[in-house]
Amino acid sequence: GIERTFVMIKPDGVQRGLVGSIISRFEQKGLKLVGLKFMHASECLLRQHYAEHEGRPFFEPLVKYVQSGPVVAMVLEGPDAIKVGRLLIGTTDPSKSPPGTIRGDLALQTRKNLIHGSDSSESAQREIELWFGQRELVGWEKDS
Ligand code: CMP
Repeated sequence: GIERTFVMIKPDGVQRGLVGSIISRFEQKGLKLVGLKFMHASECLLRQHYAEHEGRPFFEPLVKYVQSGPVVAMVLEGPDAIKVGRLLIGTTDPSKSPPGTIRGDLALQTRKNLIHGSDSSESAQREIELWFGQRELVGWEKDS
């Protein structure tokens, strides 16, 4: 069915000038933007966002890295948006991500893997609520 997923372009994607080309891939696939913002993520937000990884050895460096510069946060909508988003993004380790995927084509390191995408409907719902206010999500139907 129609789903919404949360996607974030990490600071390495912004710094490398890949924002436009990354967003294009989702648009070209047919996913619709329903939320989009450019921001510095706070430590508090990132600790909540990555809560499931708390205690893992990469947790602290990860939170620090995603705070190191601005990120692009977005919500994308479409048929099976969560699974489709993950397919376009590729696997966590970019060196193993197939060509044709965002990480497979554009990244090489696991920490600096350019982009985050929700991995389940529970995390999508949680992440969308964490990053966006209700009024920041915009439907495509004209209603006023
Ligand atoms: P992602 O899968 O989007 O969410 C968790 C992030 O933690 C992952 O992207 C990487 O950026 C990072 N990560 C996961 N595993 C490792 C690891 N073994 N070493 C460093 N970073 C990691």
